[in-house]
Amino acid sequence: MRTELINDIIGWDTANWSKSLDYWNQKIDIKGKNYNCLEIGAEQGGLSLWLALNGNKVICTDFSYFDQPQILQKAKNLHRKYNCERKITYQPLSALEIPYDNYFDIILFKSVLGGIGSNKIKDVDQLVINQIYKALKPGGKLLFVENTAASLLHKYSRKWFIRWSSEWNYSKLKDIVKLFSSYKTLNYKTVGFLGTFGRNEKQRIFLGKIDAICDYLIPKSNRYIMIGVAEK
Ligand SMILES: C[S@@+](CC[C@H](N)C(=O)[O-])C[C@H]1O[C@@H](n2cnc3c(N)ncnc32)[C@H](O)[C@@H]1O
Repeated sequence: MRTELINDIIGWDTANWSKSLDYWNQKIDIKGKNYNCLEIGAEQGGLSLWLALNGNKVICTDFSYFDQPQILQKAKNLHRKYNCERKITYQPLSALEIPYDNYFDIILFKSVLGGIGSNKIKDVDQLVINQIYKALKPGGKLLFVENTAASLLHKYSRKWFIRWSSEWNYSKLKDIVKLFSSYKTLNYKTVGFLGTFGRNEKQRIFLGKIDAICDYLIPKSNRYIMIGVAEK
């Protein structure tokens, strides 16, 4: 895939986060299927772009679309750049209340759960994963990629160096796994350790390349990205 396209789909620490696309491609054939898809917390709609370019219909949604038209406009501009607006519709939507039942072949999100998880609502992550379950068709799949608590080094560096880390809930890998007990299957892998420490994208890409070589040396629960496929 071209670098510009990967940047437009993934946007941040692309060397590590783009591994989600490879993993999902291994687990599900999405090419030319015209699947009914929903992206949650899409912001600029990178994953909607990926699905639409592969010949699927997508509803691209975000909570911010309720009151931030400039974010919705960015998503529309991105999709127009690749001439795939015909495959995508837009909707403001909260993951806490998904108004569909047994409807989607594919639901997907990237880096969303942790933001909702900082909410004070009790068991809010579970609520989101249950809402997604309800909205999937039987046999439908959730594709997700999310930050994890990872190592102590990640924990302390987030505390000191990342402005918005107090607004993010970094769940432990084992706690994310538990959310999927009602699903038929959950397959996942973890990737990435150093990439997140880059101060700009150039540094992150460089560190992400080191991660690609060294990932196997890092314990699975210390890697900072979880990539998953859960089937209803
Ligand atoms: C870190 S951004 C990730 C955006 C995009 N998925 C990406 O990876 O570039 C988190 C997104 O979740 C959205 N969000 C926050 N609370 C939400 C909710 N309750 N339902 C749906 N989306 C929500 C935010 O508006 C924001 O766009």
